[in-house]
Amino acid sequence: MIVNGPNLNLLGTREPDVYGNRSFKDLFRSLQLDFPGVQLGCYQSNIEGELINRLHEVGFTYDGIVLNAAAYTHTSVGLGDAVKAIETPVVEVHISNTFSREDFRHVSYISPHAKGVILGFGLLGYHLAIQSFLK
Ligand code: DQA
Repeated sequence: MIVNGPNLNLLGTREPDVYGNRSFKDLFRSLQLDFPGVQLGCYQSNIEGELINRLHEVGFTYDGIVLNAAAYTHTSVGLGDAVKAIETPVVEVHISNTFSREDFRHVSYISPHAKGVILGFGLLGYHLAIQSFLK
C-alpha cells in the first residue's frame, strides 16, 4: 500500500522543478506495469488523522507500506507513533532530497520507525521502495 500525505495529490502541477511533472495517477500506472505480480494499492489524504487511520487499517495485514508523509514527516508525532504501532514494515519515501532543503525538512518523525528511507531519487523512489519489499 502506498500512502501519500498532504499536497501529493497535486503531483505534476505542484512545484514541478522539485517534484517533477508526472501525476501520481501516471506514476501508479507505471508501478503496476513494473510490478505485475504485486497487488498494489494507493491512498492519499491531506488530513493527518486520516493517514493514521489508514496505517491502522492496513498495518496488520499488508506485506509492506510505502509512506510519503510529505510535510507531516517533519511535524507529526502521531504518524511516527502509528508507524511504530503497526506490524507491517514501512519504507519512507521522499521525492526530493530533504537534506538539501530547509533545516525543518531535516527532521523526520517517521524514520526512527521505518524499515528504510529512500529520498532524492524523484518518483523512482516509489519503484525502489516496492523493489525493496521483494528481496
Ligand atoms: C516530500 C518532502 C517534504 O518536505 C514536503 O513537505 C513534501 C514532499 C518529498 O516527497 O520530497 O510535501 O515528502
